[in-house]
Amino acid sequence: MRVVIVGTGSIGSRHLGCCEQAGHQVLTVDSNGRADCDRVALVPDPSSVDAWVVATPTAAHLLVLEEILRYQPDARVLLEKPVCYPAELPDLTRMIHQHPRCRIVVNDVYTYSRAVRRFAESVRRFSEFDPITRITVEFTKNRELDVANGRFVDTGYGEAGYEFFHMLSIVRSILPGDRYQTYLRTEPALITPEMRVRISAPNVPELEMYASSRGVVGFPELAGFAFSSTAAKHYVARARIPYGVDMRYRFADVELESGVHVTVVFEPSYGTAVDYKNKHVVSIGGAESRHQYTISGNHFDEAVLTQLDLLHHADEGTAVIRLAEHQCMACLGVSVSIDEKFARFESEA
Ligand SMILES: NC(=O)c1ccc[n+]([C@@H]2O[C@H](COP(=O)([O-])OP(=O)(O)OC[C@H]3O[C@@H](n4cnc5c(N)ncnc54)[C@H](O)[C@@H]3O)[C@@H](O)[C@H]2O)c1
Repeated sequence: MRVVIVGTGSIGSRHLGCCEQAGHQVLTVDSNGRADCDRVALVPDPSSVDAWVVATPTAAHLLVLEEILRYQPDARVLLEKPVCYPAELPDLTRMIHQHPRCRIVVNDVYTYSRAVRRFAESVRRFSEFDPITRITVEFTKNRELDVANGRFVDTGYGEAGYEFFHMLSIVRSILPGDRYQTYLRTEPALITPEMRVRISAPNVPELEMYASSRGVVGFPELAGFAFSSTAAKHYVARARIPYGVDMRYRFADVELESGVHVTVVFEPSYGTAVDYKNKHVVSIGGAESRHQYTISGNHFDEAVLTQLDLLHHADEGTAVIRLAEHQCMACLGVSVSIDEKFARFESEA
């Protein structure tokens, strides 16, 4: 396929590596002067592009998309998440209606992750006769160094803009669609700034999603067991990933009525395996005995290649932008303003 990647920063470079490795013919666009072209308008023969990837900062997504659709109204576009800022969502839907032949998909890494799919299969198997009582999802990393360098500063969704899209994708993969939709329609019982979101509603398990970009671990007891390095175990036990440490504490845990837990833990071999980012574990059991299996693979690459293939075969008018998830994230994000976020980082520096 002939693929054009617009924005070749941190995430665009990953798209580039993945597409090149898969044998796609790639052309890059970036306004930084280090790409093949510095504007979409300069891409040669835009009508023959098979797929576009938009990986500019979120604030530029709509401008870039508009430009792409001007040159190729039936374009196939993989748009980084979040698709745009909350106030721009109506403009995005209008743009899609005005281009009924375009095909647009938001990059949904965890929906296409093999580890998440295997986890969801285990959850379905074990919960058939042992109902789910509680779902807990945590995505914690110390991003204070990134924030100091101007990365991971989301002025639209706040803290919810970083990980909640991924966390919702995991919850969606576990439950039937109507039960999952209940969470999106229910006002959370609790939202705290670091941030913790608890949702209780009739006929669905209690859901708690927690993400900290300051490295404050929320649920050390639910996934600490899976980590192999002494340092990682120590950080989890202290419930704090220190400044500058690259470790990510990410898991989804499903508790069943019997007390059995089905848990997926991402990257638990941090500190002991060079390719730890490509190894994930699903564990079934409890503190006394656990059965575990490992899933190898790079979620990001798997998702990008799967979605490019889906786009390639998608009918005209296909748009998978996860509007309800973005609206939900927008409502959660209002609780933390960017000023508050910087004030917190500065007060702790
Ligand atoms: N899928 C994921 O898990 C994931 C993770 C992190 C970030 N993201 C998203 O990826 C996107 C990019 O984030 P990043 O961290 O790579 O940003 P970045 O700042 O590292 O890179 C953005 C690049 O876009 C270029 N650029 C800016 N405006 C442009 C324009 N109008 N035309 C062409 N190039 C332009 C910049 O020069 C820069 O090289 C954001 O939307 C972010 O939310 C997704």
